[in-house]
Amino acid sequence: MSNISKTHAYGKLILFGEHFVVYKVPALVGAVAAYTDCDFQFTESPGLEVIDNRPAVPNYKVTKKEEGDKALNLVLDHFKLDPQERGIKMTFGGDLTCASGIGASAAQVVALARAINLECKLDLSEDEINAAGYEGEKGYHGTPSGIDNTAATFAGVLRFQRTDSDPIFIKKKTKEPIRIVYASTGITSSTTKVVGDVRSKKEADPAWFDDLLVQYKALVKKGEAALDNYDLPELGRLLDENHSLCQKLTVSCAELDNLVDAARSAGAYGAKMSGTGRGGLMLALAPTAEIQDSVAEALEKAGAPQVWKTAFA
Ligand code: MEV
Repeated sequence: MSNISKTHAYGKLILFGEHFVVYKVPALVGAVAAYTDCDFQFTESPGLEVIDNRPAVPNYKVTKKEEGDKALNLVLDHFKLDPQERGIKMTFGGDLTCASGIGASAAQVVALARAINLECKLDLSEDEINAAGYEGEKGYHGTPSGIDNTAATFAGVLRFQRTDSDPIFIKKKTKEPIRIVYASTGITSSTTKVVGDVRSKKEADPAWFDDLLVQYKALVKKGEAALDNYDLPELGRLLDENHSLCQKLTVSCAELDNLVDAARSAGAYGAKMSGTGRGGLMLALAPTAEIQDSVAEALEKAGAPQVWKTAFA
């Protein structure tokens, strides 16, 4: 029997703290139910064959090809596997639609780490799988916080903080599942470029960045309390505030703002961009199945090419 179900690695949505999390402050993230999986085999003849059957928004795979190839090779290097010595075929699939913001790159490298672990009988711990995923993530941008690969590996809702050594993260328990609608702008953005731009702006005007960071730290504290208390109206209000901070950080864009407004008008308790920004995804807190339906409909009407429903548990 195939072991592919043991390679599942999940997509994620950041509730609080994209970009700020790079600077070692806490963030809150929820894994979505959709996953990437990987079949890994050694082949007779040397060389690397990658078959990518993952669903994706248009342009995603072409735009991310170079970074993706680099990421897969970084995972192979991490495990000291050289396809020129022993041929390798890897096949990616699953039901996670690749789009900027959903952590598709992290899900891919974590699924690969899991598949290598199985094929090579390495008996790795979950922390070791996560560490291998982190190495792969460096192919996508040089300074990943590690939040995406950690969510891809451990799933659930996590409070995550990057540190100078290993990241600190804990699983959050929610009283009931938290229903979310998320939608793509259809624009594939470059995490490398957007993270780099934020860094340049921070270096050019440290006081401006510090002020936003102080506001964000107060916000995420309240966000965690709202999550712990299952106070959804408060959680929604704070998600809105996080979106405003992303706008100030210049990582939102007109397309994201438009979808966020549409979700709020349709009854979402709160809405924000999620992930890299300047394209990519937004999410909306829609506490009931009915609100999820009306928010999803409104997002489609507002021009989102793809809309999904999920729940964090
Ligand atoms: C990307 O999903 C999240 C960013 O904060 C980058 C990172 O944390 O590595 C933009």
